[in-house]
Amino acid sequence: MPQSVPAHAPARAGRVRIADVERTFPTAEGPRTVLRDVTLDVVPGEIIAIVGPSGCGKSTLLRLIGGLDTPTVGSITLDDRVVRAHDDSTAIAFQEPRLLPWRTIAQNVALGLPRGSRGRSARERVAELLALVGLTHAAGQRPSEVSGGMAQRASLARALARDPRVLLLDEPFGALDALTRLKMHDLLLDIHRAQPTTIVLVTHDVEEALYLADHVLLLRNLHDAQLEPARPRAKVVALGSSSGLGALGSAGAARPADAIPDGEADTRRANGSIARFVPVPGARPRDRGARAFTDLRTGLLDGLGVHKLTPKETP
Ligand SMILES: Nc1ncnc2c1ncn2[C@@H]1O[C@H](COP(=O)(O)OP(=O)(O)OP(=O)(O)O)[C@@H](O)[C@H]1O
Ligand SMILES: [Mg+2]
Repeated sequence: MPQSVPAHAPARAGRVRIADVERTFPTAEGPRTVLRDVTLDVVPGEIIAIVGPSGCGKSTLLRLIGGLDTPTVGSITLDDRVVRAHDDSTAIAFQEPRLLPWRTIAQNVALGLPRGSRGRSARERVAELLALVGLTHAAGQRPSEVSGGMAQRASLARALARDPRVLLLDEPFGALDALTRLKMHDLLLDIHRAQPTTIVLVTHDVEEALYLADHVLLLRNLHDAQLEPARPRAKVVALGSSSGLGALGSAGAARPADAIPDGEADTRRANGSIARFVPVPGARPRDRGARAFTDLRTGLLDGLGVHKLTPKETP
């Protein structure tokens, strides 16, 4: 799909540090804690996938990283600067493309450019982004004239236009048909190669997470003990990391929570939102059917409350 690698020099990828984050919302029934004891490092250029049951706080965490919301407790830093408000260092794309219907695809992409961008360099940058997502031919069309996949590609291009150090994606492919979704996975990897920004991707799709991510973060719903019961020393499959981090997934964040004394860390992890943080083995692009994923997939589905059926033994 992509037609060229951009000549544009991308901004450097950002490092995200999430330290002891809690988010509590006031509700009619009193305060409701959605996220608790979330500690995590996202290495520059890494792709992290966040999975977890509906309502466990995935979008909330993404909003906190993007500066659209602030933690009740703890802090989030981007390249050692505390995130206090949304700015140009992060960009977010959602499940719905959210394009302006009265503007062309090119004009929608241009909306993502940093403030003050105009003239020839702005036009060239938009052309470059359209080429990156394979939409050069659709530059002059309106959103109502393009397919859902094309609209979502435009939305990705608009997010990339500001050259974010961190790209935040909230179920970006969730509304697409299965085939388009598979194509979008490869497109995202092409984009990541061309503009190696840090990516935090929320998804409901474990296969998507295993295909795209360096690490998968599994969140538990603090209000649903059934799905992922707190277990101080959860057994997790240890697998190598494609990003060379080699960290073992555990009941909590593999880094940097390891610095916390053992007993205390275990208790906090067991009561916190992070159920697992696991490295995904193998360099991308990955074989979707690789056997190395079997245990990892089963463990993640188990954490999501989807239990594998054991076939009845035949006599
Ligand atoms: N501003 C808010 N005020 C009160 N409660 C909120 C607010 N934002 C989110 N919540 C609550 O926080 C919880 C987590 O919401 P969030 O959108 O982060 O879940 P999610 O994991 O993204 O779910 P889904 O998979 O369905 O998108 C929900 O119970 C939601 O109602
Ligand atoms: Mg959500």
